[in-house]
Amino acid sequence: MAVELMKDVYWTGVVDWGLRLFHGHELSTHRGSTYNSYLIRGEKTALVDTAWGPFASEFIDNVRSVIDPAAIDYVIANHAEPDHSGSLPELMRLCPKATVVVSKRGAESIPGHYHQKWNFQPVKTGDRIALGNGIELVFVEAPMLHWPDSMFTYVAGKNLLLSNDAFGQHYATAFRTNERVDTEELYEEALKYYANILTPFSDFVLKKIDEVLALKLPVDMIGPSHGVIWKERPLQIVEKYREWAQQKPRPVALVIYDTMWNATRRMAEAVAAGLAAEGVAHKLFHAATTDRNDLITEIFQARALVFGSPTVNGSYLPTLAPLLHDLRGLKFKNKIGAAFGSYGWSGEAVKQLEEHLTACKIPLVAEGVRAKWQPRAEDLAACEAQGRKVAASIRAGVEAKVAP
Ligand code: FEO
Repeated sequence: MAVELMKDVYWTGVVDWGLRLFHGHELSTHRGSTYNSYLIRGEKTALVDTAWGPFASEFIDNVRSVIDPAAIDYVIANHAEPDHSGSLPELMRLCPKATVVVSKRGAESIPGHYHQKWNFQPVKTGDRIALGNGIELVFVEAPMLHWPDSMFTYVAGKNLLLSNDAFGQHYATAFRTNERVDTEELYEEALKYYANILTPFSDFVLKKIDEVLALKLPVDMIGPSHGVIWKERPLQIVEKYREWAQQKPRPVALVIYDTMWNATRRMAEAVAAGLAAEGVAHKLFHAATTDRNDLITEIFQARALVFGSPTVNGSYLPTLAPLLHDLRGLKFKNKIGAAFGSYGWSGEAVKQLEEHLTACKIPLVAEGVRAKWQPRAEDLAACEAQGRKVAASIRAGVEAKVAP
């Protein structure tokens, strides 16, 4: 069912309550998602973004509940990922003469996905399309938020910013706007989305926020392409993005480990004891049994990352590899690190973890700790000392930040 957001502006998207994995199997979505599409009616009609292909008929039904799709004049494709563009082929069969508006990079990515000779109109920042009745679409390129083709569409006359993936959340809800949903859940999902998708583009986020605010466009509502629409105090999410993009972590340590016969687990707990003795907040995560994307959200917020693994086949346990891969790709800033682990024969894991942290530009603040077989009392004492040292580095960082 379409939802009227304001006069002549409708949400025509789809709520996907059952989604649990996104981007194939890359991202966990415990609370489902939505594929938001917006229909704007002036003298002419524009549809901004569509829905993922498997939901095409539901999406078209929602459009049909407002208007005959044949009457659509402009289809705005803000970004080519198929969760937003996937219903274009079915939609365009119903409005073949509509103009498909894309960013300059979208002029590569949309045809690249669908290989159709639609009537494309590439636009750049500041370009406008008048719909009549005082409504104009104004386009703002938003490269790397989060693809090179990403674009925002501002609906002048309605004070509505349609920001595509930016400011979104994978969050299926009964109602469409933020004042009608659980704020705590909403922010949990918004943060997870930022940490897992937008972190490496944080510098672009800061620049784009400044650029958009400098335009001094009145904004009464922000409609992202996933999740809840920001209607009540819409700029709260912009301010939150500005905060997140600065990547200022909390004075918290994470001890992230995997273990085979509990030797490395015991070492992890000894590291935690050192952190506790210094009064530093910390959490332990058994990486092999923790959702990787939830853990990334925790990593995003934490200052110190202490990784532990036994050595198997000359390296750390393969269960840690996807997380370590993300650690490099997501380009976290302002972290510190250390490593520990047990071994029986060759014992390379700790050195490799340290090398990986260094490659991720995460400086090591305590010497690595290795224990042969099950840790002895002195090995556990070394782990505890490592925890204390990490705690001292967190403190030093915090104090440095608050110093005048
Ligand atoms: Fe929601 Fe980048 O697609």
